[in-house]
Amino acid sequence: MSLLEVSDLRTYFYTEGGIVQAVDGVDFSVNAGETLGIVGESGAGKSVTVRSLLGLIDPPGTVVDGTITFDGQDLHSLTESELRREIRGSEISFVFQDPMSALNPVYTVGSQIAEVVEHHTDRTATEAWDRAVELLDDVGIPDAAVRADQYPHEFSGGMRQRVLIAMALSCNPKLIIADEPTTALDVTIQAQILDLFEEIQDRYNTGLIYVTHDLGVVREVCDRVAVMYLGEVVERGRYEDLFNDPKHPYTQMLMRSVVTPDRPVSSLDPIEGAMPSAVDPPSGCRFRTRCPVAIDDCSTIEPPDYAVTSDHAAACLLYDDDFAGDPPVLHERTTGGGRDE
Ligand SMILES: Nc1ncnc2c1ncn2[C@@H]1O[C@H](COP(=O)(O)OP(=O)(O)OP(=O)(O)O)[C@@H](O)[C@H]1O
Ligand code: SF4
Ligand SMILES: [Mg+2]
Repeated sequence: MSLLEVSDLRTYFYTEGGIVQAVDGVDFSVNAGETLGIVGESGAGKSVTVRSLLGLIDPPGTVVDGTITFDGQDLHSLTESELRREIRGSEISFVFQDPMSALNPVYTVGSQIAEVVEHHTDRTATEAWDRAVELLDDVGIPDAAVRADQYPHEFSGGMRQRVLIAMALSCNPKLIIADEPTTALDVTIQAQILDLFEEIQDRYNTGLIYVTHDLGVVREVCDRVAVMYLGEVVERGRYEDLFNDPKHPYTQMLMRSVVTPDRPVSSLDPIEGAMPSAVDPPSGCRFRTRCPVAIDDCSTIEPPDYAVTSDHAAACLLYDDDFAGDPPVLHERTTGGGRDE
């Protein structure tokens, strides 16, 4: 069984401007030790999806439907205090994009990590402090014993992100959810943080959900990928399959826009047009307003998932046997471009 299984997740925001259908029927799963990438344009619903898993949606938003099974337990049925006590920060931890907002500027980083350790284990204050230093060392902070006694502002952006990762690790979580953790960092530091995530997974067999709009990052760290568009997962499967043989027209367009050694920046093919509003999304297939291969039925029929293989599915009507015609081929691949192993 998967570590996490999410099915038919729906999260809406009831605003004065209408009901924002931010996440509208999302399915995915994550196995222990595996990394699932959640990708898609800004506003696709990536953050709302992962925040929904842990009940971190504030009014006017609410999870209106779905089952979230984590380690055999239904998270959706837990109360806020049960989630806080039993799951958040212990079984599942978060690493956010902006470490400054997650760290308290008036306490040393060591004391902040030690506090989490103390809260979730039966270690004494001294033991918790020692564990904090050990964790800082684990995430590659030099002179960890000295650095533990310093304040967040004394750390660079990349080092602060390492501190957050140390904090996320402090309770040996089974799953880490990282929402754009490297977006604010420069490319070299970003690569180091990605390496660190891989190391952590190897060492602790932690599951990881990695949210990003950067397919280059996905290529570095993810085993499996869920591609989101306007509140829905339009394609999911193993990274290699999505990269080498994307099925959904949106994924095909996204993959064409990835920079690879054989495809320099000048050949980037950005996706034209803007994603429509999640308040009144297009009928039928939500991607149809930007889809170059849409057919008439796309405006009336919501495409279900079509299985390509047992672990690869795409939600596009052109894969339905009832719709005659060739499957959409937008993605002409030349040699190379796969993940560097
Ligand atoms: N508090 C809120 N109130 C109303 N709508 C919201 C709220 N938070 C998010 N939304 C809407 O939900 C949708 C999904 O937002 P979300 O933040 O999940 O996107 P995202 O994929 O994480 O984008 P980004 O890449 O920019 O982080 C968007 O239409 C957004 O405007
Ligand atoms: S269902 Fe239609 S509009 Fe949607 S991606 Fe497929 S072809 Fe394009
Ligand atoms: Mg986001």
